[in-house]
Amino acid sequence: MLPPMSSETSTRAAVLERPGVPARIETLTLAAPGPGEVRVRMVAAGVCHSDLHVRDGEWEREGPIVMGHEGSAVVEALGPGVAEAFPGIRPGVLVALSWLIPCGACRACRDGRVWSCSASPSYTHRMPSGRAALHDASGRDVLTYCAIGTFAERQNVPAAAAIPMPDGVPPDVAALIGCCVTTGVGAAVKTAEVRPGSSVAVIGLGGVGLSCVMGASIAGAGRIVAVDRVPAKLDLARTVGATDTVLAEADAAATIAAIRDATDGGPDTCFEAIGLPATIEQAIACLPTGGTACLVGMTPFGVRASFEPFPFVDGGRRILGSNYGSADPATDFPRYAALHLAGRLPADRLVTGHIGLDGLEDAFAAMRRGEGVRTMIGFDRA
Ligand SMILES: NC(=O)c1ccc[n+]([C@@H]2O[C@H](COP(=O)([O-])OP(=O)(O)OC[C@H]3O[C@@H](n4cnc5c(N)ncnc54)[C@H](O)[C@@H]3O)[C@@H](O)[C@H]2O)c1
Ligand SMILES: [Zn+2]
Ligand SMILES: [Zn+2]
Repeated sequence: MLPPMSSETSTRAAVLERPGVPARIETLTLAAPGPGEVRVRMVAAGVCHSDLHVRDGEWEREGPIVMGHEGSAVVEALGPGVAEAFPGIRPGVLVALSWLIPCGACRACRDGRVWSCSASPSYTHRMPSGRAALHDASGRDVLTYCAIGTFAERQNVPAAAAIPMPDGVPPDVAALIGCCVTTGVGAAVKTAEVRPGSSVAVIGLGGVGLSCVMGASIAGAGRIVAVDRVPAKLDLARTVGATDTVLAEADAAATIAAIRDATDGGPDTCFEAIGLPATIEQAIACLPTGGTACLVGMTPFGVRASFEPFPFVDGGRRILGSNYGSADPATDFPRYAALHLAGRLPADRLVTGHIGLDGLEDAFAAMRRGEGVRTMIGFDRA
């Protein structure tokens, strides 16, 4: 017997014709879920700065494309083969959506580094079969960002992107586990392996940086210095585990001196969670000997940062790049959800606003001004 909702349907979605132009809200046709695909009804989607990079034309992407890569959804229908291969995915289950869908076969996947999978449908923005499940009124293919395109009422997603959540996880938190929580917490506990009692600084306190703060706290860091140019972000950081705060100055040397003062000469690990050359250079410059800069923020394509090699090498310092918090979503998402339920990962505090799909451009404008942390799109609102 066919599961319910397995036929073609329609969905409202935020579509970007190409990077650099405003998103528009359109009604699209969504095909029945094909082999290995799951039809979901989106419940919550977070607006991440990576969406803004695309919206503002800082990253090239093919269009038209449904935006969004952080979301939680309820499973509505399964395509052929899903029930057998993914027994946890059943209609009615709340899933957190992963923007990295491991192919399981490339060199990185075979090595256990699924976060650096090079053959993921996440990079083609199509279903694993290569098809687009969405079409616009003129019949054009519409792609889905990272193959999950969460700024849509309904979507087809690859089954491996849909990670079932334990009972009781709020949909907003499940959505944030899909990007910023996994990115930031994983940067601290997995990529940089922050040690108990060590000192940490985090530059940039959006959803990603505040998640680095929470990850450092879970790892048992003794001192966690939170740095931003917006005072309200510093107050919020204290509520999720920061022990000290530094208001970033226009003068980089003053910011570096303040970070060093708060960490007995420099943090053992400094996270950069913005993606600006100036703050990447600060993260490297504030390190003591033996310190590690963990770069999490993403720059526009083509941007370069620099540092002086001699003291870096002489002092045994390190730079790490952290993609998706070195996550294996199928195992890490439920763990982060369990930490939230146990009261040890207060991800709900990152949510500073709720909007409907129509509010997306306003949310981007607020993010450019540094206002708020995570704005959540709810799909019963617009
Ligand atoms: N590595 C990954 O896998 C990964 C995943 C998701 C997002 N990202 C990237 O992480 C970065 C942060 O994302 P977000 O959603 O948290 O962004 P955000 O815009 O919400 O947060 C950025 C923060 O940096 C602060 N800031 C900006 N300029 C500053 C400066 N000069 N000095 C001090 N603070 C400054 C802002 O006030 C804001 O609080 C983005 O570049 C995003 O693309 C990376
Ligand atoms: Zn993101
Ligand atoms: Zn792979």
